[in-house]
Amino acid sequence: MIELNGVSVRFGDLTALYPVSLSLAERRVAVVGSNGSGKSTFARLLNGLVVPSTGEVRVDGLSTARDARAVRRKVGFVFQNPDNQIVYPLVEEDIAFGLKNLKLPKAEIAARVDAVLTRYGMEALRTRPAHLLSGGQKQMLAISAVLVMEPDYVVFDEPTTLLDLRNKRRVARAIAGLPQTAVVVSHDLEFLADFERVLVFDAGRLVCDGPPATAIPFYRDLMAAEADGV
Ligand SMILES: Nc1ncnc2c1ncn2[C@@H]1O[C@H](COP(=O)(O)OP(=O)(O)OP(=O)(O)O)[C@@H](O)[C@H]1O
Ligand SMILES: [Mg+2]
Repeated sequence: MIELNGVSVRFGDLTALYPVSLSLAERRVAVVGSNGSGKSTFARLLNGLVVPSTGEVRVDGLSTARDARAVRRKVGFVFQNPDNQIVYPLVEEDIAFGLKNLKLPKAEIAARVDAVLTRYGMEALRTRPAHLLSGGQKQMLAISAVLVMEPDYVVFDEPTTLLDLRNKRRVARAIAGLPQTAVVVSHDLEFLADFERVLVFDAGRLVCDGPPATAIPFYRDLMAAEADGV
């Protein structure tokens, strides 16, 4: 379980997130809100990429501030822009990178890389230069490189933004099939419709927290009101 207790985030004078306390125990949690509303900040708190200015984030009891390494291992993070995540020249090397860091036996690394390449339809790309992949292929690579680590939780920051319809569906299916708890920041309301819980952020505040049937209409009304200048 991921727990936030009185967590706020300030960047200098700017409050990116006002105090929030909640526990995330559902398998599929979505995060929505307008640009700059604090979604990425919230997502980054969950694995310690951002540490709270006040309060505490705990993952299975571990503090993201004090137990940062253990938390990063538990909580995988897929970035909004996959270019930020690709570290090795070849696709298969990039996927193996984290496992090599863990100093796992070569045979186990090879088996886990093979399994992920097969599961996400990327065998044909394994020896291709990662930086030459298309946007959607890079996104799938970034997701694969996180999932191969078998984290207990996975946080996705807008995983479908760059994707065409086919890759969007592929990513949606990949996320739907995950055994882990997934927290997904997305503007794609159709994709979120079968999630268990939706958090709506507005100007750094959590303004709605509920099932899609209530949170999605709330978010649509909020966006419509802002567009009308109300
Ligand atoms: N490292 C940082 N330093 C300073 N300000 C930051 C930092 N990260 C985020 N911010 C600011 O905090 C606010 C919230 O940003 P955040 O990235 O969380 O928004 P978001 O909801 O993810 O937006 P988007 O939909 O555009 O991705 C913004 O005003 C942003 O400029
Ligand atoms: Mg963002």
